[in-house]
Amino acid sequence: MKKYLLGIALCFATVGAWANEAKLPKIELPTSPEALQRGAETVATVCLSCHNLKYIKYSDLSGLGFSKEKLGALSVGHGLDDSLMSPMSAEATKQAFGITPPDLSMMAKARVGGPHYVYAFVTGFYTNDKGKTDNHVFPGAKMPDVLGAASAKGEERTAIEYKAKEVAAFLEWAGDPKAQERRGLGRYVIAYLIVLTILLYLVKLRTWARLKEHHKRKHT
Ligand code: HEC
Repeated sequence: MKKYLLGIALCFATVGAWANEAKLPKIELPTSPEALQRGAETVATVCLSCHNLKYIKYSDLSGLGFSKEKLGALSVGHGLDDSLMSPMSAEATKQAFGITPPDLSMMAKARVGGPHYVYAFVTGFYTNDKGKTDNHVFPGAKMPDVLGAASAKGEERTAIEYKAKEVAAFLEWAGDPKAQERRGLGRYVIAYLIVLTILLYLVKLRTWARLKEHHKRKHT
């Protein structure tokens, strides 16, 4: 009985998650290296004031194709082996905002909707009836409207939305920075297996040819 209840609860949770995800605007994430690099720069210069990305090191960013000079400029004051950490300590942010901002390395994996959620959240700020800034996807969020989404109109809004897409795409990358390497490796492994299969097939043909030969000689 308990198992059934658990099953039913899980079904509801899944359907709930789907329903939540369906409410998020589906964005097209930019994929060009330049867009991902701009996303990384925005995260390093804006988001990192409060958030950490403790699983990402400055050296990992070279995977995005940054030049040595750019990487040097981004990591100024840090070693390449350092993680991307906010200059604000967890206590300082807690004092300032009432809560320590969550680590962003896995954020695009942690929230339902992933990068779409990140996008909807950072562009979701608006001014409510009481003249206070609030957030559509996370009402009562304690994060300030850092990109200035609430007051932006027209072209300015479009620019902010584009910036948010780049940030979302970068955070998606940050959630699994080795994905591309793995896909590259996967291709090698598959090519190797194909070559191995052909070789084994040839070996098999030869062995059988020999066996047949042997057989024929024995019976004639
Ligand atoms: C001035 C400090 C500050 C800056 C800068 C900042 N954040 Fe935050 N952020 C916060 C705080 C505080 C929270 C916790 C909000 C809460 O739980 O109420 C938060 C929460 C979040 C969350 C999690 C929301 C959730 O569902 O729990 C995401 C995603 C996020 N920030 C993304 C970003 C991105 C992307 C940037 C850069 C464009 C950024 N933040 C810049 C302070 C900041």
